[in-house]
Amino acid sequence: MHIYTQPKAQKLHIISATMIPTSLLLHLLLYLTLQPGRVKSDPDPLQDYCVADTKSPHPIFLNGAPCKDPTLATVADFTTSALSESGDTRTNQLGINVTLTTTTNLPGLNTMGLAMARIDFAGRGVVPPHAHPRASEVTICLEGVLLVGFVDTSGRVFTQELHAGESFVFPKGLIHFLYNIDSESSAMAVSGLSSQNPGTQIASLASFASKPPIPEEVLERAFRINAQDVARIRKNLGG
Ligand SMILES: *[C@@H]1O[C@H](CO)[C@@H](O)[C@H](O)[C@H]1NC(C)=O
Repeated sequence: MHIYTQPKAQKLHIISATMIPTSLLLHLLLYLTLQPGRVKSDPDPLQDYCVADTKSPHPIFLNGAPCKDPTLATVADFTTSALSESGDTRTNQLGINVTLTTTTNLPGLNTMGLAMARIDFAGRGVVPPHAHPRASEVTICLEGVLLVGFVDTSGRVFTQELHAGESFVFPKGLIHFLYNIDSESSAMAVSGLSSQNPGTQIASLASFASKPPIPEEVLERAFRINAQDVARIRKNLGG
């Protein structure tokens, strides 16, 4: 066993009495300025668990789902096979299928501040540029080879090729994508997300397939395209 011993202090910094209040003040100032902007994950649970009561006869709207009586909780509330089977990737044009744990298929995750997703990819399947407003995401490639990446708020892109067993983090709220670079073989990844309800906003769909649509003129100016382009993109995206 290795025991870490603290190295002996090599130098004593001499601090003048007038410097102490200044540094304290600085710390306090830093604390006060950083505090309001602190990024918070989902609220911490106030009890051991709050198994989602998805069968509540009276719908009430809370920040999360209402809790089932704790004495009625069973192990099934904490177990799911939702991610055990591959999703069908043939039924959509992107060649992907995303399966997510939710308070419905895994009621025990209510208030725990996390969720998981399984993503199945056909050859060249793509999860298009999108963001999760409430969650950071860590993904592990379990099968195949994926090209993943995100763009930060300065417009810088970070991309990486992931082989089976390799992981990547998508920081909270940033636009990111996952792409199966192989045209023949399928691929599969599992993600952990730091919210029970991460939310997903796909950039292309938010712009061109919202209901009701964003005024055409806005899209023409914003994307520097003409009315035909807007119509074509809308049609392609099912908007
Ligand atoms: C995902 O796969 C499931 C299970 O095969 C299927 O029922 C569902 O329609 C698929 N969803 C999409 C969007 O392709």
